[in-house]
Amino acid sequence: MTHPLVIAIDGPAASGKSTLARRVAARYGLRFLDTGLVYRATARRLLDAGDDPADGDAARRHAEALVPFDLDHPHLRGEGIGNVASLVASYPEVRAALLPVQGRFAKEPPGSVLAGRDIGTVVCPDADAKVFVTASIEERARRRTAELRGRGEAPIYDRVLEEIMERDRRDGSRTVAPMAVAADAVVIDTTDLGLDGAFNAVREAIDRRLGRTNRR
Ligand code: DC
Repeated sequence: MTHPLVIAIDGPAASGKSTLARRVAARYGLRFLDTGLVYRATARRLLDAGDDPADGDAARRHAEALVPFDLDHPHLRGEGIGNVASLVASYPEVRAALLPVQGRFAKEPPGSVLAGRDIGTVVCPDADAKVFVTASIEERARRRTAELRGRGEAPIYDRVLEEIMERDRRDGSRTVAPMAVAADAVVIDTTDLGLDGAFNAVREAIDRRLGRTNRR
């Protein structure tokens, strides 16, 4: 029997990795998990319970109590919750609690695409293909500003830029499982690529890694 195919797609905030990973999952007939949602849902539970994001022990309790239903919460996508998620994700005990959930999801047949920060390095170090998607910080801030505007919010570009910088700094410098490019990952810079161009580049990189040629 062939083992479930696992594809890791990592990248910084607002790099487009989740959108690309969702398309990759559809293309290869795999399940999809945006692991940022796992941290966002933990942050949401903590805030809804009135707990303090600076309280690592409370964050660990919410991570341990997380259920799949929490990932369907309608208010997980905003920048505010993203920042709290980034803080909560810096606690080693939170990461330890959430690691097995992601690992189990990855290995379920027929296989999965996981998007995140540490998928290729920590969650699925044996993934069949690893891609690290990035873009310049200005381009990521521009995309995030447009996305927020599309959702009816009134974002200020400079604020969005600052928040993404802060998130890059925290996600890249935490002591456990910091955002990092796996040694065997293909890095794809999407700064000058549209969504279709970026998807094609990611698909080609994965096909190459899987030893497939140009299947449609
Ligand atoms: O990808 P995102 O913006 O939805 O992620 C929100 C936060 O969750 C991110 O700033 C850091 C954390 N995160 C993480 O630490 N590891 C992951 N694999 C995914 C997200």
